Parts: sequence; structure tokens; C-alpha cells
Amino acid sequence: MPDQSVKRLDRTGRIELWGHFGYNSGRCRNKERGKIGKMKDVVLNTDLKSLKLFKRGKVRDIYDLGDKLLIVATDRISAFDVVIPSGIPQKGRILTALSLFWFDFCQDIIANHLIPLSLTFLPEQERKLLEGRAMLVKKANPILVECVVRGYLSGSAWKEYQSQGSVCGIKLPPGLQEAEKLPEPIFTPSTKAQTGHDVNITFDELQNLVGAELASKLRQVSLKIYLKASDYAEKRGIIIADTKFEFGTDEGEVMLIDELLTPDSSRFWSKEEYEPGKSQPSFDKQFVRDYLNGLKWDKTPPAPELPPEVIEETSKKYREACNRLLDRG
Ligand SMILES: Nc1ncnc2c1ncn2[C@@H]1O[C@H](COP(=O)(O)OP(=O)(O)OP(=O)(O)O)[C@@H](O)[C@H]1O
Ligand SMILES: [Mg+2]
Repeated sequence: MPDQSVKRLDRTGRIELWGHFGYNSGRCRNKERGKIGKMKDVVLNTDLKSLKLFKRGKVRDIYDLGDKLLIVATDRISAFDVVIPSGIPQKGRILTALSLFWFDFCQDIIANHLIPLSLTFLPEQERKLLEGRAMLVKKANPILVECVVRGYLSGSAWKEYQSQGSVCGIKLPPGLQEAEKLPEPIFTPSTKAQTGHDVNITFDELQNLVGAELASKLRQVSLKIYLKASDYAEKRGIIIADTKFEFGTDEGEVMLIDELLTPDSSRFWSKEEYEPGKSQPSFDKQFVRDYLNGLKWDKTPPAPELPPEVIEETSKKYREACNRLLDRG
């Protein structure tokens, strides 16, 4: 029962459900409602002295704990693949809350990498910094493909369809419009490029990379998760146009890793504003994109700072997505 677990998450907090430190403590909740320290409370960067850095992504700082990883979602935001120097208040906490929710929501479909969080090994100050934005996970062997599922025709899939009538080798009916809902969701994997953009691959290519059995499992599980989650989100006014999953193996078991169904790993659209036939506004990043598109910036680093009103509007959209999906009033 997803609704039950949402309410438990919301009212009794993370500690009881997963043992994650400080999730939804009173202070954090007030901040989420925008009452205290909204603009000041931004974590752009973490530098945990006692831990070894595993990787700094565009948004997350990941620390190596031997057989585990500590994934810390900062308030960094990227646009056009470039990290913006301004942070978005609460973004890291929202990404973490959403991932935790969806991992729980999808447990009946597949296991995931989460382990109950205890940060007692960190000094008090660092624990406070991580409040609500950390996940402790099993270190898995990542399967080096991005498992993309698309329910709507957008982005690189729209481009590929226009020139070839198919997406990742999947033939689609003629005459589809941009952003149109597909007859059924499709699985369009891509390679995980170390540098540059990921490259779409066909299912045959995926089979060559990971083997036929695992390829089938990845497709089946990805489509199942998408169907369950997109149905849930749509009832709350959010269209999940497409999303990306990552999987890993741990002692032979396939599990979901990374983040799950966040605005950073998915395209969220507002159901009310949805209008096929054109590019859709992004639920969360549109203010940032519109602002940056209005500047004479060539979309290469360094990116410009965002003005306070763009930061606030964007933070509001992230909060709205989170509140809708987690049934917070
Ligand atoms: N449980 C796990 N075990 C091992 N590796 C993991 C696990 N969870 C996530 N990862 C890996 O950690 C990395 C996270 O990096 P991150 O997503 O922050 O940066 P990125 O993918 O390089 O860039 P971007 O910021 O665009 O997402 C990914 O390579 C992901 O596959
Ligand atoms: Mg990533």
C-alpha cells in the first residue's frame, strides 16, 4: 500500500521506516514549508573529512565506505548539462526523499541497494549537513547501461523518430507528434558514456553487451517499474514522460542502484499543462532554462548565477513535485 507508507514516511519519519538520520525532523519539515532559512540553507558542496570521495557527479557527492557507498544529494542543479553555480534550496532533500519513496514503492518488483542509514560514525557537524540528503547503499557492480523507458515521444527519441520512424530500433506508428503519448511504453537503453552524451542502443546491442537473459530481465523490470510509477504519478498530476534506471549486481543478485524516478533522472511534465504537438515545459527546470535561454550564454562552463526569483520559483516547483508525489498537503 503506497499511500500507507507515504503517510508513515511523512508523519513518523525516516528513522522509523529506514533508520535514515533526521529525515523529516520537525526542523526539516518547517524548512520544507519555506518557513525558516530557506535561502541560506543551501548545500552546494560537501567535503567530509573522514571519508574518501568516490565520485563527484553533477549533483551528488558519493563517498566510498568499502563495501558501501554514501550518496549525498547536494542542492546543485544542472541545465544543458552544465552545473549552475547557484543552488536550489531543498533540492537535495527532495531528490533523496523521492528516491527513498520510489525504492520502497518498487520493492515488490525488484530489490534495491538501500541499507538503513546510520551516520553515527560521522562528527555531529557533518551529520547535520547531511540531514535528509544522504543514502547509504550497498556497493554493487554497476551494469554499464542506462535503462531508459519512454511513455512519451520527446528529446532524443523525438529526433530519432523524425529521421528514422523508429527509436532504438523499435518501429513506431507513423504520424506521431512531438510529446505524444506512445501506444505503449518502450524500453530504449543507452550506453553510459564516461564523457560526452550517452548513445542509444538497440535491444540486440544490449544483448551483445550484457547477455540475452540479463537484457530481457532489465527490459521487463524497467517497463514494470515505469508502468507502476507513471500510473501513480499521473493520479497526482505528474506525467513521467520518460525516466532512466540503473542496475547493478551484488553477489549475483540484480538490483536497482543510483537514484530512482527523481526529476533529475526523469522528465516530469504537469498533467494540467500537457499539450502534445510541441516541446513541453519541464515541471522543475523550466524557469532555469527560460532564464538561461534569455541570456547571451553559449551553454559551456562556467554557467552564470541565477537571480533569486528564479531560484525561489525553481525550489517551489521541486517542492510541489515532492509534495504531490508523497501526498503531502
Ligand atoms: N549502489 C551502487 N553501487 C555502485 N555504484 C553506484 C551505486 N549507485 C550508484 N552508483 C554509481 O554512482 C555514480 C553516480 O554518479 P552521478 O550520477 O552522481 O554522476 P554521473 O552519472 O557521472 O553524472 P550525472 O551527474 O549526470 O548523473 C554512477 O556512476 C552510478 O552508476
Ligand atoms: Mg548519474
